[in-house]
Amino acid sequence: MPAILLFDTTLRDGEKSPGIMLTIPEKVRLAVQLARLGVDVVEAGFPAASEAQFEAVRKIAQTVSGPVLAALARATNPMDFDVAMRALEGYSRPRLHTFAPVSPFYRRHYLKRDFPATLDLAQKAVRLARQRCDDVEFSLVDAFRASIDDVVAMAKAVAEAGATVINIADTVGYATPLEIEMVFRAVKTALGDGSGVILSVHCHNDLGLAAANSLAAVAAGATQIHGTINGIGERAGNTPLEEVVAILKTRGDRLQAEVRVDTTQIGPTCRLVKRLTGITLAVHKPVVGANAFVYETTVPQLGDESAQPPYEIMDPKDFGLNVAPEPVAKDMSVDALRARLEQMGIAVDEEAVRQCWEAYKGLAERKEHIYESDLENLVDETILAPPQRYKLLYLNVSAGSISVPNATVQLEMDGQVRQDAGFGQGPVDAAFKTICKMTHRFPRLLRYEVNAVTSGTDALGEVNVHLEEDGQMVQGRAVATDIVLASAKAFVNALNKLEQKTKEPSVSEFTEMESWQPRL
Ligand code: KIV
Ligand code: ZN
Repeated sequence: MPAILLFDTTLRDGEKSPGIMLTIPEKVRLAVQLARLGVDVVEAGFPAASEAQFEAVRKIAQTVSGPVLAALARATNPMDFDVAMRALEGYSRPRLHTFAPVSPFYRRHYLKRDFPATLDLAQKAVRLARQRCDDVEFSLVDAFRASIDDVVAMAKAVAEAGATVINIADTVGYATPLEIEMVFRAVKTALGDGSGVILSVHCHNDLGLAAANSLAAVAAGATQIHGTINGIGERAGNTPLEEVVAILKTRGDRLQAEVRVDTTQIGPTCRLVKRLTGITLAVHKPVVGANAFVYETTVPQLGDESAQPPYEIMDPKDFGLNVAPEPVAKDMSVDALRARLEQMGIAVDEEAVRQCWEAYKGLAERKEHIYESDLENLVDETILAPPQRYKLLYLNVSAGSISVPNATVQLEMDGQVRQDAGFGQGPVDAAFKTICKMTHRFPRLLRYEVNAVTSGTDALGEVNVHLEEDGQMVQGRAVATDIVLASAKAFVNALNKLEQKTKEPSVSEFTEMESWQPRL
């Protein structure tokens, strides 16, 4: 059966979900996990957009091994190719990914070029990219609001110019499966069998059809699917890769296609993306939603309770889900903790292992059992924190049915220790208001969520806050056994991200503004 290549764009298109801002260590951590899952291509980012994006791609290229690493570059800005190649320097399997719109709407609004000029631009861009890299993917943007003739003409033109992968994108999530099949069949026929070009599909989920559309493309000859973990992305997101994997694993025989990933890494990867982005999943989301394998017992017991229930079409264990968590030892040495983290696919340097170990010892004193998920959270807290302008040193709150909720906060700001106190409607409100007063930042709280990391009343509480300030949105996250403390830490984490985001304006994919260029 033909293997379908999975192209993961969580770090590039997925990061465009409103309010998401991943730090460089967070991006590296995710790229390592994607390699562990075994996706074929990881799109590491858009290096010409900003110094932070360049650094993230460079760090990923220095850390990850296995998948093809792709970097986005605009067809309109030749300098983007050099910047992207410099970010990927030294990596064994680099790919340049460039793009141009096909639909009249996108061409007029973003490119201000007619179709012949766009064709010319696309061909020139692919030739320039091929001079720098043997593997060049070209994306036809907004292809399903364009005429089939234009899509076919552009696909032929970029194949002729040397594109190794042609990706046809439903940028606005408008297509239906039948239209997808029609377009892919037309392009496949036009390219002919001997072209050697990989046909790829990139869908958005505005009408909830992204996974179905991606599989329709496969039925018509596509052998690469773009997607993101948990389907994150702008608006309704992108094709959820975990769903594509589950469909091909469960119905691959019918679709005559398979994927070659380690499916047991689906659960850990989806949980990581949920933690890093703070985007929680609907309980009924296929495969990874909390209820995806939970039943009201309507089918009579068969006697053999160890057997997979007859109504279950997938075994959650195949996806690394619903595996009963085993507690880990509470008295591990630093070396034992390092070995355990490595076993979990988490590579940390010496300094970070020591910090994690300190945090682990503290947690072992407060909590009856420690699980791998607790360790994952400790690692996230310890090594993934953004550069800290603000650091929470101390929090004391007082609240109850007869007192006015108040908070005393000690913060380190720009290296100076400050302390203040304030009131609020509750302890969390008092803590947030006091932090705002001290930092002179008054962002809008868009979302506030508390979840337990494991079961039990001594579980770590995980708090996610989403903040907005002057149009910039960020998400902050923290865990602690005390949820008010976790709330304050998450708020400070988000403020640090806001600080970074304000400092680092980024070039958009659809402008012709100057590329950010690394100093040589
Ligand atoms: O949605 C889109 O068109 C894209 C392309 C750059 C592939 O993300
Ligand atoms: Zn997209």
